[in-house]
Amino acid sequence: MFITFEGIEGSGKSTQAKLLHEWFLDAGYEVVLTREPGGTPAAEELREFILSEREENFPEMAELMLYMAARSFHVQNLIKPALASGAIVISDRFSDATLAYQGYGRELPIEEIEHLNQLATGGLSPDITFLIDIPVEIGFSRIKRRKQDRIEKENFEFHEKVRKGYLEIAKRYPERIVIIDGRKRTVEIFSEIHQIVERRLKNGI
Ligand code: TMP
Repeated sequence: MFITFEGIEGSGKSTQAKLLHEWFLDAGYEVVLTREPGGTPAAEELREFILSEREENFPEMAELMLYMAARSFHVQNLIKPALASGAIVISDRFSDATLAYQGYGRELPIEEIEHLNQLATGGLSPDITFLIDIPVEIGFSRIKRRKQDRIEKENFEFHEKVRKGYLEIAKRYPERIVIIDGRKRTVEIFSEIHQIVERRLKNGI
């Protein structure tokens, strides 16, 4: 089973991914918690490169390609082998993030990104994706105290486009993407998520 978490900055998705990981561990499952960009040594190096401030202009196309390169390392060297060994994989962000951020946020062509995602993942798609949705104002107020990376520093309008983009993507893949109201309390959100996962496990996904 391959599960991904998506959402704008400050949505609480990483907290939920960690809670689900702990729940699987406690229940005795073999489970891997990973993230994008990142997850393998090379992909983590790319993460550092992509998210840090540069002196020269960072072309949007370069950003897109680097996310794809990191995804290719991640899929080939971590996700596919883990799934093949029978483990459950939970990833904090995956392909939908590129559609939302580079597609809807940066306004790069969606269809081309879908094609690149297809190439970078070899066609691997999550079994279930939890989109933790919150208004941008709430996300911003949650992250303002932490050190922000190059993408987090983008303005309100950018993040509004990303949020709307995620909701569009969810409409396109309703059988895979579950929208969760991220304004609720952490425990309530987790209870919703874990019930959905348990149901899917019982029904063999
Ligand atoms: P994180 O803060 O959730 O770890 O994600 C790192 C940043 O990278 C976040 O601002 C979203 C951004 N991102 C993209 O713009 N495109 C992508 O494909 C991915 C995976 C992340």
